[in-house]
Amino acid sequence: MSEKNQTLGEFIIENQSSFKYTSGELSRLINSIRLAAKVVNHEVNKAGLVDIIGAAGDTNIQGEDQQKLDVFANNLFINAMTRRNIVCGIASEEEDDYIAINSQDENHQNKYVVLIDPLDGSSNIDVNVSVGTIFSIYRRVTPIGTPVTIDDFLQKGNQQVAAGYVVYGTSTMIVYTTGAGVNGFTLNPAIGTFYLSHPNMEFPEDGKIYSVNEGNYIHFPQGIKNYIKYCQMEEGDRPYTSRYIGSLVSDFHRNMIKGGIYMYPKSSKNSNGKLRLLYECNPMAFLAEQANGKASDGFNRIMEIQPTELHQRVPFICGSKNMVEKAEEFMRNAQ
Ligand code: AHG
Ligand code: MN
Ligand code: MN
Repeated sequence: MSEKNQTLGEFIIENQSSFKYTSGELSRLINSIRLAAKVVNHEVNKAGLVDIIGAAGDTNIQGEDQQKLDVFANNLFINAMTRRNIVCGIASEEEDDYIAINSQDENHQNKYVVLIDPLDGSSNIDVNVSVGTIFSIYRRVTPIGTPVTIDDFLQKGNQQVAAGYVVYGTSTMIVYTTGAGVNGFTLNPAIGTFYLSHPNMEFPEDGKIYSVNEGNYIHFPQGIKNYIKYCQMEEGDRPYTSRYIGSLVSDFHRNMIKGGIYMYPKSSKNSNGKLRLLYECNPMAFLAEQANGKASDGFNRIMEIQPTELHQRVPFICGSKNMVEKAEEFMRNAQ
């Protein structure tokens, strides 16, 4: 616990000046995410009580069933960031195309774009298991005051200025980075305030947890199959423990605290895996690296991949440094 019981609001103000492009704009943006997260938290918690769960009947661009809460969270985050005029563009996993904001207004000086997975792990809602929200923030590359273009969104992960997630779990937390380490804030639901509860979060260099959907084992590349067998082998501190929630945010959060590796590899059915580079992998990779961990597609650093489309998918291996490097070694050796 922080000695001062610092709130997220205070933390944002105190750290604003240490941010190199400081103008208050990024602070306002993180503030709007904080407010939206509180509302989504409230909805997630009452999902078991009211008729808000269940498929909305739509399918999103990836052809998956959308849950009602996905739509709700999507609209809420988009409204929170557009209404208060704090970003120039948003891309969401739940939207076919990016949204340009006030692009006709030549006085529009906003320089940030946001990419968001409004509700991650949405298949867990109906069964009372943790879900999350993931966000990723970039400076636009096109001139301020002009409409945003696709180039503002298709930036490499190493250009992110901030990224984070909200986990709606046994406690609700916001965990984020602006490139100076990772800090976690826990919501006190009685008064609706986030407090700094996990300063300077770091992955242990080694871990004993592996998280992967082993039901797909038969379809995995040989390198991943070999690595999974290595995790299960009796030797030294192995076999490791298997933990898979099916919600990237929650699996990542646990692994960061306890030490572990998360894998969503490509498969013979899905040549690029399942997770989206821009909404899921890049923000988690930025957090992982800022927390002394690692994120890879099996061969390359996630944050150096040049995106070519908004909804691009990529194989994803992320977590404790030594575990990710071991998995990469197995991938190389199986080539
Ligand atoms: P989303 O709910 O945003 O579609 O993401 C779900 C993702 C990720 O959070 C999770 O780890 C993975 O999909 C689970 O996929 P499988 O059910 O195929 O294991
Ligand atoms: Mn997701
Ligand atoms: Mn989602």
